[in-house]
Amino acid sequence: MTLVTGQRIPVSLGERSYEIVLEPGSSRTLGDRLKPLIHTGKIGIITDRHVARHYLKPTVESLRQAGLDPVSIVLPPGERTKTLATVARILDVLATHRFERRSMLLALGGGVIGDLAGFAASVYQRGIPYVQVPTTLVAQVDSSVGGKTGVDHRLGKNLIGAFHQPKGVIIDPFMLHTLPRREWIAGLAEVIKYGIIADEDLFSFLEASMPELLKLDAQAVMRAVARSCEIKAEVVAEDEKESDRRRILNYGHTIGHALESLGGYRRLIHGEAVGIGLVAEADLAVHLGICGKDVATRIRRLVQAAGLPDQLPSRTSFGALWGAMQHDKKVVGGNVIGVWPVRLGEVVIRPLAQEACAAWFRTLGSPSQRRKPAMRKT
Ligand SMILES: NC(=O)c1ccc[n+]([C@@H]2O[C@H](COP(=O)([O-])OP(=O)(O)OC[C@H]3O[C@@H](n4cnc5c(N)ncnc54)[C@H](O)[C@@H]3O)[C@@H](O)[C@H]2O)c1
Ligand SMILES: [Zn+2]
Repeated sequence: MTLVTGQRIPVSLGERSYEIVLEPGSSRTLGDRLKPLIHTGKIGIITDRHVARHYLKPTVESLRQAGLDPVSIVLPPGERTKTLATVARILDVLATHRFERRSMLLALGGGVIGDLAGFAASVYQRGIPYVQVPTTLVAQVDSSVGGKTGVDHRLGKNLIGAFHQPKGVIIDPFMLHTLPRREWIAGLAEVIKYGIIADEDLFSFLEASMPELLKLDAQAVMRAVARSCEIKAEVVAEDEKESDRRRILNYGHTIGHALESLGGYRRLIHGEAVGIGLVAEADLAVHLGICGKDVATRIRRLVQAAGLPDQLPSRTSFGALWGAMQHDKKVVGGNVIGVWPVRLGEVVIRPLAQEACAAWFRTLGSPSQRRKPAMRKT
């Protein structure tokens, strides 16, 4: 068996700098790893029921062995938990247990838990430290890094939030073995995104190694997660609060977010919607004359190879799609600010006018001509 060693990736943000520790098995020694980052013994573990079933007990034991005093808050799993009401519930527990300014939170879970715990940490006593221990592929390569925290509002996803950087991110790729297959594949959409926006070598590696990745081969997973984290860390370091460069991370998400919301966040999970978005936005870029057809073809093939859907759902109308795209935070003067591939590994940011988008949409044919999204492999 080949030994897969760990890696440390810096996120350079001046006094808010921290490290991503990527190491197989690292979750089993969390207590020792957190001790240097912590000022008081008290630590709140925020997690959900699915994650708790596999990882809460060893986490609590590891923290206790390191002399820490963990308090566990186990929430219902899923996006519907990502609300202000849940934050209020977390804050109640923290106040009841007399958490102080120097006490810490630990987000043990996927993006929902990371966003919730980070937001609770940002407001409790005007900000307490927290650490991310991401357990989904989406969280390991995306949501745990960068300090965007928040909750959903009835009128919009992630409408309420704050920038609050964690003190550290500890990634154990072994934790991905218990992830449901659908969630694993959804996370691959974000990894493919990094190849498209910043690294043709990563994209080629994914083309060559998709069968290994789908089998969770340890070497392939390490390489994909590490390179994704490096790219996210670089982009965040250049533009912490998303004034410009950080927008490139939204590639595939303009259409992806719109489809997610049109499906009521139930029909397509985030990564699946992003998979369709990666393909559709590349196709749009070809239509707009920004990239060649070869680029869009390679993107579509890789998305298909991952087992992600690659077609707009057949019921999607242009009016509904454009309307949903308008709800995105990245809209200026009615134009959607899009991210477009020029070639693999390089993107540009340009506004998209309604008429241009409508003309592209007409090239797709009528809804009945479009076939349904590819069946997911189970
Ligand atoms: N802050 C950011 O920058 C950022 C970036 C991307 C996404 N997000 C947010 O992340 C959320 C989506 O995150 P997600 O895809 O991780 O979803 P999630 O947190 O809902 O997790 C998906 C499912 O997997 C389960 N699960 C998690 N880890 C597991 C494991 N190791 N074994 C078994 N089951 C496990 C969860 O209980 C849940 O049922 C969305 O709310 C999105 O807005 C935030
Ligand atoms: Zn995403």
